[in-house]
Amino acid sequence: MKNIIAFSGSTRSGSFHTRIIRSLAGLCPKDMAVTLFDLSAIPFYNEDLEGDQLPAAVHALRSDVDAADGIIFAAPEYNFSYSALTKNTIDWLTRPKGAGVLRDKKVALICVTPGPGGGKNVSKLLGDLLPFFGNTIVSTVTSPSIAEKIAPDADEITDLEFKASLTQALDAFG
Ligand SMILES: Cc1cc2nc3c(=O)[nH]c(=O)nc-3n(C[C@H](O)[C@H](O)[C@H](O)COP(=O)(O)O)c2cc1C
Repeated sequence: MKNIIAFSGSTRSGSFHTRIIRSLAGLCPKDMAVTLFDLSAIPFYNEDLEGDQLPAAVHALRSDVDAADGIIFAAPEYNFSYSALTKNTIDWLTRPKGAGVLRDKKVALICVTPGPGGGKNVSKLLGDLLPFFGNTIVSTVTSPSIAEKIAPDADEITDLEFKASLTQALDAFG
């Protein structure tokens, strides 16, 4: 069983990125499980918390990523860049220096916006940044007008083209 861990860079209750991750269970191959990791208990990165002081939530974050076959960053675009939550996750996963569990993992990016931008800026930034940590970007899915592509009352993708791009993104983990 291929085990993919998924992060939403938004903790708001109606987050499109979180809802898209929830929809992936119905789209992934039979031999794959996609698990949403709740980032709401992860503090801002602080080197003082490393070692004996490491919060339990950060320990769980690192060990779940270490055990995963791949990572999905569902990353909202905030002011032409990544949200602080997405960046904070990357920061925790790239420390301790030289021993971060992010290293060499396969990554898929999902960046959507309700407006016309489509997450192009944040997907480009992450696509440029993550290979620095040895990550292979196996797929990048972006989309504008996302509210029109997801059911209003269920975590279900209604737009067939967008749905197909998500299915392909999961298949790309190999
Ligand atoms: C602080 C902030 C900055 C934003 N900046 C952008 C932006 O640069 N480009 C864009 O297309 N949308 C921008 N948006 C709109 C987000 O794409 C939108 O709120 C989106 O729904 C966030 O993802 P979520 O639904 O997963 O929370 C911004 C939203 C916030 C809260």
